[in-house]
Amino acid sequence: VTSTKGDRIFFVGISGSGKSTVGPLLAAQLGWDFVDTDILVETNVGRSIPAIFAEDGEAVFRDFEASIMEEVAATERVVVSTGGGVPTTERGRRALESGTSIWLQIEPDLAAERLVWHATSEERPLLAGSPAARLRELLEERAKFYSDADATINVRGLSPEEISAEAAAIWAGQGSTETFVEAARVTTGAAVCPIFVGEGLLADLGAICVQVGVSGRAFVVTDEVVGGLFAEQASASLTDCGFAPQVFAIPSGEEHKTLATVETVYDWLLEHRVERSDFVVCLGGGVVTDLGGFAASTCLRGLKFVHVPTTLLAMADAAVGGKTGVDHRLGKNMIGAFVQPAAVIVDTAVLKTLPERQARAGMAELIKHGFILDAALTEDLERAGGDLESFLSPELIARSVAIKAAVVSEDERESGTRELLNYGHTIGHAIETVTGYGRYQHGEAVAIGMRAAGLIAKAVGMLDAGGFERQQALLKAAGLPDSAPGLDVDALIEASRGDKKVRGGQARWVLLDTIGHAVVVDDVPDEIVRDAVKTVVA
Ligand SMILES: NC(=O)c1ccc[n+]([C@@H]2O[C@H](COP(=O)([O-])OP(=O)(O)OC[C@H]3O[C@@H](n4cnc5c(N)ncnc54)[C@H](O)[C@@H]3O)[C@@H](O)[C@H]2O)c1
Ligand SMILES: [Zn+2]
Repeated sequence: VTSTKGDRIFFVGISGSGKSTVGPLLAAQLGWDFVDTDILVETNVGRSIPAIFAEDGEAVFRDFEASIMEEVAATERVVVSTGGGVPTTERGRRALESGTSIWLQIEPDLAAERLVWHATSEERPLLAGSPAARLRELLEERAKFYSDADATINVRGLSPEEISAEAAAIWAGQGSTETFVEAARVTTGAAVCPIFVGEGLLADLGAICVQVGVSGRAFVVTDEVVGGLFAEQASASLTDCGFAPQVFAIPSGEEHKTLATVETVYDWLLEHRVERSDFVVCLGGGVVTDLGGFAASTCLRGLKFVHVPTTLLAMADAAVGGKTGVDHRLGKNMIGAFVQPAAVIVDTAVLKTLPERQARAGMAELIKHGFILDAALTEDLERAGGDLESFLSPELIARSVAIKAAVVSEDERESGTRELLNYGHTIGHAIETVTGYGRYQHGEAVAIGMRAAGLIAKAVGMLDAGGFERQQALLKAAGLPDSAPGLDVDALIEASRGDKKVRGGQARWVLLDTIGHAVVVDDVPDEIVRDAVKTVVA
């Protein structure tokens, strides 16, 4: 978008506009260097600016300043606070052309007020006398040069952080009007994770990264399939915004979600001398977001990471909530940590290449969110009538994501509400275990598990027959299975006891009392469970 100009941002404007306050902030945000030309002149010359003015005159000072600007123009990844007179000279203007120049516009009176605290005429020779009057004069002379800048920010009423964010957005080619709007956010004690959902957002990956304030270089972790499809587009967007991306593809598939694969990610990151100020982008399905998030949050004691989920399951579930981790030979997801991503960016356009069976399996989780907490979402899903296109719309995905985000915000560590997200998962996981994770997609197993849970809820007098029928009709419309014929009842019951959702020996069941409302029940009689399991394997 911008980078024909090179990775340089110049702040121009009169003294008191905040150039040397905002500059370091923006540099830190982008992971770039910061240069203040006034300070550099003083260091290089070995005398203070007032001394240079007094002993050699302004022209000599401007020469020193122009040389510094020329040096900076040959440097990459640098934010520059320029002396107020830089744009008034030919050499200064040429140097400014090498990057994005931003005029920090301020009324002279306000600038004078800010300066009055620390400026003496000795420190700022051009302001001798009344600073306000002098600044007004200077501005009159220089406004025509300042207004040649690529962009202008009027700083009145803005905090340095806001000015820095605005400048970053301008540089990313976004300008002030195109701020990306969050579809939802996860807020936990320690973190805020904004979630963006839209068609085509992959092209805005870099700009969103700028907006959320990650910095440095982008290390993209993906898998071999997703990498082949989308790594190039992701990299291009990151490059445009100055994040100098590197890409690493792990082999695709759950069997690679291991510590051994995490080590290959560490190797790659460390060989590229990753720094704490850099960040990781996890581009892929739930395997990549789980594993990449874990690798990022443990490398150098924690790099920031951004999730870009590319399967429906990862969008609706895996990428949102901060659970990261890998499998162990003794169990799935046995190693891991709760760490929130810096952002989740959902581009629904990437779902077009997803095999239909996988897309439909992902719908199970999306539908589940409606069943447990949002009757209105369930109704809208019913209206979509199982049509894949409508199900995969940014609107419906965003609403489903918002439910998960709200639940996680309330209960990150799964001590209460978050348990509800396990609806359908007790029998679902048992089915996956008994079939060795080969026969059913996770979402398919969960769909069958939801039927079992529905049967149990009906039997204990919670969900009424109408509610149960509605649940089954929607799952059927989504093309999800309702039974796992031929599986062994005892094996399933045994496997469901080994599920994580058992506390103190009591199986805990997430059950609906009505569509849109779930509760946790821990005293379901064994015969009722057995009957339900028998029905779904028939
Ligand atoms: N962290 C959590 O809260 C959480 C929640 C649910 C599931 N998970 C985890 O998620 C994993 C399953 O996620 P998944 O189903 O996304 O699996 P996955 O990451 O293995 O992706 C499935 C397959 O689809 C391919 N793929 C991904 N995006 C594609 C696209 N847009 N087009 C074409 N192919 C594409 C992948 O290469 C892979 O082969 C499991 O490991 C599970 O434990 C985690
Ligand atoms: Zn699930």
